[in-house]
Amino acid sequence: MDDGNTMGNSFDLVIRGGTVATACDVFKASIGIRDGRIVALADDLPRGAEEIDATGKLVLPGGVDAHCHFDQPTSDGSRMADDFRSGPLSAAFGGTTTVIPFACQQKGQSLRAAVQDYHERADGKSVIDYAFHLIVTDPTEHVLGQELPALIRDGYTSFKIYTTYDDLKLNDRQILEVLALAKREHALTMIHAENADIIAWLTDQLERVGHTAPRYHAAARPAIAEREATHRAISLAEVIDAPILVVHVSGGEALNQIAEARHRGLRVFGETCPQYLFLTADDLNLSGFEGAKHICSPPPRDGASQQSVWRGIQDGTFQIFSSDHAPFRFDDAKGKKVAGDKASFTHVPNGIPGVETRLPLLFSEGVVKGKISLPRFVQLTATNPARLYGLMPRKGTIAIGADADIAIWDPEKKVTVTNDILHHDVDYTPYEGRQIVGWPQVVISRGEIVIRDGRCLGKAGRGEFLECGEPDILL
Ligand code: URP
Ligand code: ZN
Ligand code: ZN
Repeated sequence: MDDGNTMGNSFDLVIRGGTVATACDVFKASIGIRDGRIVALADDLPRGAEEIDATGKLVLPGGVDAHCHFDQPTSDGSRMADDFRSGPLSAAFGGTTTVIPFACQQKGQSLRAAVQDYHERADGKSVIDYAFHLIVTDPTEHVLGQELPALIRDGYTSFKIYTTYDDLKLNDRQILEVLALAKREHALTMIHAENADIIAWLTDQLERVGHTAPRYHAAARPAIAEREATHRAISLAEVIDAPILVVHVSGGEALNQIAEARHRGLRVFGETCPQYLFLTADDLNLSGFEGAKHICSPPPRDGASQQSVWRGIQDGTFQIFSSDHAPFRFDDAKGKKVAGDKASFTHVPNGIPGVETRLPLLFSEGVVKGKISLPRFVQLTATNPARLYGLMPRKGTIAIGADADIAIWDPEKKVTVTNDILHHDVDYTPYEGRQIVGWPQVVISRGEIVIRDGRCLGKAGRGEFLECGEPDILL
């Protein structure tokens, strides 16, 4: 065979003989990589400077985790366990090559200042590429008229808004203003949908009778509170005719609202997360304070909700599967115990870790057990988030010209998840003891091998900030 290196057709890396999967196809091919990009897909290719034999392996686009929280400032004295070093590192070990965390505006703060602060937190730390969503908590005239349009043009094309949490929530009028701006500027609004007053009222009732243990978090945030706010968010979006993504949907009640809106042709998108497939409210009912490990919002619900979430994954009502990695250590006065280990559930930081286990959990339970196809897995975890957040054609697929962000999976590897095999800085995993089949063996970011056989080869800080383009809302 000709030596490609002498043909002016050289490859820095060739991944040879694997089974490649994209959002629509599964095929055998070798992949030629040059200057960090995919430049050839063929039955056979000349030798590269470096070679990976992927025979018997799956070659997938690196995951895009479009909902994770790293080093995000909090207002209750707690501190996130993962910064831009450990968070993206943990993501990479789990087969993810792009993360999109949140630059959160504090009320009264300029949005530009929040973005600047977040860049400083991220600079020089991440092993993989990253973009930012914004969180808009104070949509003043100046923010909506000047800062946000300028930031959208600078590559921050998606932002999250909240209907709950006192320090974050917007009222309906403010939501309409944000949606109108998003429509004008071709941005995407992500909505955390839970009815704040239902939650506040139920919380008061529970606390009044001493029901403060972690498990009451689930009682204070019932599915009906999520359903109502989801319905309202969709109605507000319909008034403006703006696309929205309802994030971290926990079960059938909210899911049905999204499905109904989509049947009517509205551009309403849905995201769900591992905790709604693999945990239930029973996990908040562990002895002592242990249930606090599983406090997140919306809370995990019941077996029927898990089935509904699987249905939404299978039938396309959900377009995106993200981790919502929100890392707080359990046994830590800056973590879940920030208000003490007897604190009411309402003072426990919300969120659970999962950036590393997101893909293996869905692969094992979804693909290996035959609930979803491999292309559907790729759509949910890589291609759709890249499209929706304006990162196509660089990210989320295996195609000529795309960044060579690739995860080579051993589809038969058996792994028992324990916290000590993970790379986050959290002191627990909600998935302790779970048996998984299939795990990424080699992870490549822009043509560079960053993870190989359980070792990190990529340097902290090699990851680049990505400016997002216009969201593709034709999903
Ligand atoms: O409980 C959660 N989900 N915490 C993370 C913040 C959010 O609302 O996504
Ligand atoms: Zn949220
Ligand atoms: Zn979140």
